[in-house]
Amino acid sequence: EKQGFKHFMLKEIYEQPGVVRASLEAYFTNIEESSESPINLGLPREFYADLAQIQIVACGTSWHAALVGKYLLEQLAGISTQVHYASEYRYAPSPLTPNTLIIGVTQSGETADTLAALAMEKERRQGQEPQYQARLLGITNRPESSLGLMVPHIINTLAGIEIGVAATKTFIAQLMAFYALALDLAAHRQTVPLEKLVEIINGLRQIPKEIEATLEAQESLTEHLAHDFAETKDFIFLGRGINFPIALEGALKLKEISYIHAEGYPAGEMKHGPIALLDAKVPVVAIAIPGSVYEKVISNAQEAKARDSRLIGVTPVNDGEAAEIFNDLLPVSSVDELLSPILTVVPLQLLAYHIAARRGLDVDQPRNLAKSVTVE
Ligand code: F6R
Repeated sequence: EKQGFKHFMLKEIYEQPGVVRASLEAYFTNIEESSESPINLGLPREFYADLAQIQIVACGTSWHAALVGKYLLEQLAGISTQVHYASEYRYAPSPLTPNTLIIGVTQSGETADTLAALAMEKERRQGQEPQYQARLLGITNRPESSLGLMVPHIINTLAGIEIGVAATKTFIAQLMAFYALALDLAAHRQTVPLEKLVEIINGLRQIPKEIEATLEAQESLTEHLAHDFAETKDFIFLGRGINFPIALEGALKLKEISYIHAEGYPAGEMKHGPIALLDAKVPVVAIAIPGSVYEKVISNAQEAKARDSRLIGVTPVNDGEAAEIFNDLLPVSSVDELLSPILTVVPLQLLAYHIAARRGLDVDQPRNLAKSVTVE
């Protein structure tokens, strides 16, 4: 079943180009054929009407996907979006707001806190004025799950079954769902001109090839790099903007399967405390993609280097400037910043995988973790 891969996690990392292809096929129609929007998610009209706000609840990796979603929904569709840990939101919800879309993101569809947060939201909106009624949407890899029964509308993510406990391809599938949703809302609300939408969608169509190239280039690079971290106890991951959640995800992957302490930070927050942790024993992984915050990330990375940290850059292949700063490179293709999270997460998954495998750990079944967390 592992088809020659040593672990399910590695096999699932390699399945990601196929997941992106399946999502493109399912969510995006032919641009020429479309009238209002080139995206088809089968969502009801009322989801789009006078939409004022979006609240998202999720846990773990799904929460990270939701943070990328927030960036897209705010920057592309212009809708104010809040992302909550479901375990927090269920006991301390935001004040009731009208015309609000509520999204639960859960790969398994069974995470107790996410289900409870949605149930709470549904209940408190019952019997309210029409504009306060719940507009509930689920994003899940298992439409037949408890989530599927609870919410009237689902975006079905197309990862196929994921066996490794650490989420990889389901994360990529969730990102694809958020690209589709944000672009669909942008088309309906006319917040992005059609040519720009087409450009973004064409960019998405290149992503499967680019993930394949990244996998090919990095398999041995990350495996090799993993040798150097046999004794490492702490890692810091830095990103900004749309790649801040990817820094969080890189740190979570490493924690979960290698048991190395890791923290993800928005790079600009370094100087507000965490920089005190840095020395030659603490490697720093920085995601630096040309775009709105590139120079900022580079200068934050330089601050880490000045504290003797070994600096690992997730950055485009032909970037001379970056190459000089970083001790090690995990190169990705040159890609539009907006689409980059789908690519930048891949080397971080591989790095976590190879460090854990090298330590001889049970990558697919890490200690104390379960594939779905059905208790509070
Ligand atoms: C991370 C991981 C967990 C899950 C979290 C939510 O690799 O697997 O953090 O992401 O337990 O699970 P779902 O998405 O099933 O609600």
